[in-house]
Amino acid sequence: MDNPTYLLEVKNLCRYFTSGRGKKKLTVKAVDDVSFGVKPAETFGLVGESGCGKTTLGRTVIRLYDPTSGQVIFNGREISGKMTNDLRRYLTENIAMIFQDPIESLNPRMTVEEIIGEGLKVRGVKDKDEIRRRVVEMLEKVGLNEEHATRYPHEFSGGQRQRIGIARALIVQPKMIIADEPVSALDVSIQAQVINLLNDLKSEFGLTILFIAHNLSVVKYFSDRIGVMYYGRLVEVARGDDLYAKPLHPYTRALLSAIPEPNPLVAKAKRRVDYDPERDHDYTHEKPEMVEVEPDHFVYCSPSEFARYREICKRVGKVGA
Ligand SMILES: Nc1ncnc2c1ncn2[C@@H]1O[C@H](COP(=O)(O)OP(=O)(O)OP(=O)(O)O)[C@@H](O)[C@H]1O
Ligand SMILES: [Mg+2]
Repeated sequence: MDNPTYLLEVKNLCRYFTSGRGKKKLTVKAVDDVSFGVKPAETFGLVGESGCGKTTLGRTVIRLYDPTSGQVIFNGREISGKMTNDLRRYLTENIAMIFQDPIESLNPRMTVEEIIGEGLKVRGVKDKDEIRRRVVEMLEKVGLNEEHATRYPHEFSGGQRQRIGIARALIVQPKMIIADEPVSALDVSIQAQVINLLNDLKSEFGLTILFIAHNLSVVKYFSDRIGVMYYGRLVEVARGDDLYAKPLHPYTRALLSAIPEPNPLVAKAKRRVDYDPERDHDYTHEKPEMVEVEPDHFVYCSPSEFARYREICKRVGKVGA
């Protein structure tokens, strides 16, 4: 049964990479039994350190990778099954991806107009004037203009290239955007501009966004809910304010303690905590699973951890009430 609360629902998704043969065979569980949902028009932030599987998760959802097992449902339709022309079309019409590296992800031999207009062609728009008009309209929405249409990607700054990437993603009017670290390759001063742009476009188009980031400081003000990923697994999912007020999983606590604090007095008093799965959990007798500790707050934990987390939630109470 799919859950009507969610636009995108990911159920027990796994994506493994295997290399080598025989005894040298090595399997990396890049995404391992991940389940979560993204509600319509919300921004879901996905955070975790380098190599934890964020990009693989995003790419598996949009079918740049095939899942090893599990299910992905979008707007009631399964998108993780056998690839067909119809499913390919459904995916391109509904979900678009913005990539981390705005240089690598734009074809250097295509003009900006060709890059942005490509999605329209795929959707069967043939009229050159219409393509031009819609490309220019989109360029203006992302803070560029008509003059930029005939230029090539290398003629732009990093921030401008990312704007081109955003225009390319939005031209087909998808319901959902998967933004894979869209600002991490940009200067700090430009990061805020691009995030604000995404935020504006989000309200204008009623977009649903899966926003992937390395650390919590980027998603903090931007996400409605946040999922924390550790070594292929989601360990905690909660509304942003709940996650900050009552982080339950020890890895979430470690991530929060690593956010840079601008006030030196507060920074001095802040204690950095580290996460050591061997030390922090005892799963010899109890198996962990993803459970809802309080409404909309999920943690990957064992039954005894669950009891402890419930106590913490009771003690802290409702945030923002
Ligand atoms: N195409 C691939 N072939 C083999 N292994 C891969 C492939 N892509 C990713 N991996 C492995 O899967 C794991 C997760 O990688 P992934 O790129 O998804 O992490 P990430 O969280 O996006 O990291 P980063 O924050 O650095 O972008 C890593 O161990 C990585 O080496
Ligand atoms: Mg990545």
